[in-house]
Amino acid sequence: MNTDDILAKLKNKKIGVLYGGLSSEREISIKSGKVVLGVLKRLKLKAVGIDVTRDVAEKIKKTNIDIAYVILHGPLGEDGTIQGMLEIMGIPYTCSGVFASALSMDKDISKKFFRCNGIPTPDWTVISQFEPFAEIKKYPVVVKPISQGSALGLTIVKNVSQFAIAAKEAFKHDNEIMVENFVSGKEITVGVLDGKALPVIEIVPNGEFYDFKSKYQKGGSRHIIPARISSMTYSNAQNYAEKIFKIFKCKTLCRVDMIVDNSSKIWVLENNTIPGMTATSLLPDASKAIGYDFNNLVLKIVESALYGSKKREPLRL
Ligand SMILES: Nc1ncnc2c1ncn2[C@@H]1O[C@H](COP(=O)(O)OP(=O)(O)O)[C@@H](O)[C@H]1O
Ligand SMILES: [Mg+2]
Repeated sequence: MNTDDILAKLKNKKIGVLYGGLSSEREISIKSGKVVLGVLKRLKLKAVGIDVTRDVAEKIKKTNIDIAYVILHGPLGEDGTIQGMLEIMGIPYTCSGVFASALSMDKDISKKFFRCNGIPTPDWTVISQFEPFAEIKKYPVVVKPISQGSALGLTIVKNVSQFAIAAKEAFKHDNEIMVENFVSGKEITVGVLDGKALPVIEIVPNGEFYDFKSKYQKGGSRHIIPARISSMTYSNAQNYAEKIFKIFKCKTLCRVDMIVDNSSKIWVLENNTIPGMTATSLLPDASKAIGYDFNNLVLKIVESALYGSKKREPLRL
């Protein structure tokens, strides 16, 4: 469908951009949400911003929207909960549904799913805040919350003396944290649009790793497209990303983060169902490389809400 047809289809629909939310990534979501809202308005579509707080259901009812454009990150936004609420309210929404969202938000379960499907992921163990755990013997490791994004609460731990502080930091974000083998190498990410992998991006952060600052500060990292890896590694990375889109049952898009180690082996870290849409975000860059500019990408995402699965149809009780 061309742009004019999509615009005609959406002309009389009121689109609610759901941004903000209750997670630590609230500020990032507000940034993304404002960008998306600006695009929709420039395209002369009927769009309103809805700041997601505890009373979001009332706000949605009051504004009487036809479609929800979900641009929330982290728990209670990217984890299937808001998607579940929208299912019950009978409001079509953008991108992945309850299952894919919940699965992707939980890095531990995601990694078990990768392993079951022959997708390599670094070894890891899970530590609960309320249970004793075995001493970590091999360093370096990466300590991170299980359900969090934007590298919040994440530390690369080089030796045992740094472990306790790192664990405390991760527990600020989650009751369960993960200790994962550190992989040294090139960081890459692969966006998937409608089941097809986009060009592979190589991320070169200014800092030690792709931390919060590198992610969101202007000039905090460089995005190199196509990634400087062998053609074999490139196509393997794209295959893994497409496979994850499929087995996780994602809808419309996702973005898979990976590291290519020094012997060209790929290690998958995680899947993101609502990747960032800010000026420094990765997925918009990758889609630009295949001719989808930012406006087209936003439009494609809104359009996706019109084609929900049968399950997405309003419940008729
Ligand atoms: N096992 C690992 N080895 C090396 N670097 C890692 C590892 N896990 C995470 N990182 C670094 O931390 C960043 C964020 O980790 P990630 O697992 O993608 O979580 P999120 O992006 O959800 O915060 C990665 O992009 C990478 O730079
Ligand atoms: Mg990541």
